[in-house]
Amino acid sequence: MDHGATPSILVVDDNPANLRLYRATLQDMGAEIHTVDSGEAALERFAQRSWAMVLLDVHLAGISGFDVARRLRELPGGADVPIVFVSAIYTHEADTFAGYRIGAVDYILSPIVPEILRAKVAVFVRLHRMRRETEAQSIAMERAYRELRSAHAEMEAFSYSVSHDLRTPLGQIAGFAQLLQQGHGHSLDAKGQGFLGHIQGAAQRMNRLIDDMLVLARMSRTEMQSEPVDLAAMAGEIVGELAQAQPQRQVAWRHDDDLTVQGDPGLLRVALSNLLGNAWKYSAGAAAPQIELRRAGTVGDAAFCVRDNGAGFDAAAAGERLFRPFQRFHPGSQFPGNGVGLAIAQRVVTKHGGRIWAESAPGRGATFYFTLPPLPAAPASA
Ligand SMILES: Nc1ncnc2c1ncn2[C@@H]1O[C@H](COP(=O)(O)OP(=O)(O)OP(=O)(O)O)[C@@H](O)[C@H]1O
Ligand SMILES: [Mg+2]
Repeated sequence: MDHGATPSILVVDDNPANLRLYRATLQDMGAEIHTVDSGEAALERFAQRSWAMVLLDVHLAGISGFDVARRLRELPGGADVPIVFVSAIYTHEADTFAGYRIGAVDYILSPIVPEILRAKVAVFVRLHRMRRETEAQSIAMERAYRELRSAHAEMEAFSYSVSHDLRTPLGQIAGFAQLLQQGHGHSLDAKGQGFLGHIQGAAQRMNRLIDDMLVLARMSRTEMQSEPVDLAAMAGEIVGELAQAQPQRQVAWRHDDDLTVQGDPGLLRVALSNLLGNAWKYSAGAAAPQIELRRAGTVGDAAFCVRDNGAGFDAAAAGERLFRPFQRFHPGSQFPGNGVGLAIAQRVVTKHGGRIWAESAPGRGATFYFTLPPLPAAPASA
């Protein structure tokens, strides 16, 4: 089917003088005018391209205009094409009802008044152009979306397989380093032993980094669930686990109640674990460590914050880097870590359509804000 830029109009009339009049009246309207002199010819011509409109004489010799319209509607592209009937004044009323029943969009009385015909045709030509433009835009958008998706999937597959493939040579480095230490350690001097220790330590660190990269790559591939999740209850469990792992630490835990959002419970737990885990870790040096989960001011979506009174960091200096993988703002000797927790938390939040940001200054604790979609509104009770 033709989707050319110039709209085409099919004119069906068995009177040659009328056809000449149509041509003359419509010649400079930016549309191609195609004329046929019977219903049979109209049906045949219709199938050959797409049409901006059909101008159809009701009283044709042979199959009537109404029958032509009925059959056009069944042809490919015929269901939506605007059909404008032309009918003589003296039969107009009866024709009108019959015509609208089979989907005429408009009527023109004959004898034709050129200004009226031109005004009506101009509307349909403009509609046709707009429709073509919308179609072209949605095709372009769909293509862009498909390309983006496939680029994204490729990138994830790439980072997944790279991380995976790195494991083999890394395992060999660690394995041979261990063999060297076990079988030949005694023949190395202290300096050599030290170097070997560095190799082993670095291999271990890299192994952890690869683990984290795999978690990140997997994260974007998982399908999202959507159900009500009470963040306060979930956070309580997580803080309980942290306390169990380090019973010697005394941390005050406070939270607002009933912080229910709509989301994926597994992913939200991962995000909260990282935020609360950070609050727990970086408040280790505080005299009286405190961790909070609060509702923050809402603008549209529900906003929350995780706050601690620990070491803090220079949020302005960190800027965008804060949520990038492997970025850290404290020395590993002081606070161990790989720098992926916040990257993971950010992915979870953006996957839910939310936003995450931080406020902090060195020695002043840290607050991480995030938004999540609220619960769908409950149906109004009667
Ligand atoms: N609550 C916090 N208080 C102070 N600094 C923080 C806090 N949360 C994050 N940071 C800073 O941001 C950096 C990145 O945090 P992120 O959670 O990504 O990594 P990490 O905690 O160092 O390691 P991982 O989470 O991989 O174990 C941290 O290294 C730390 O410097
Ligand atoms: Mg962390």
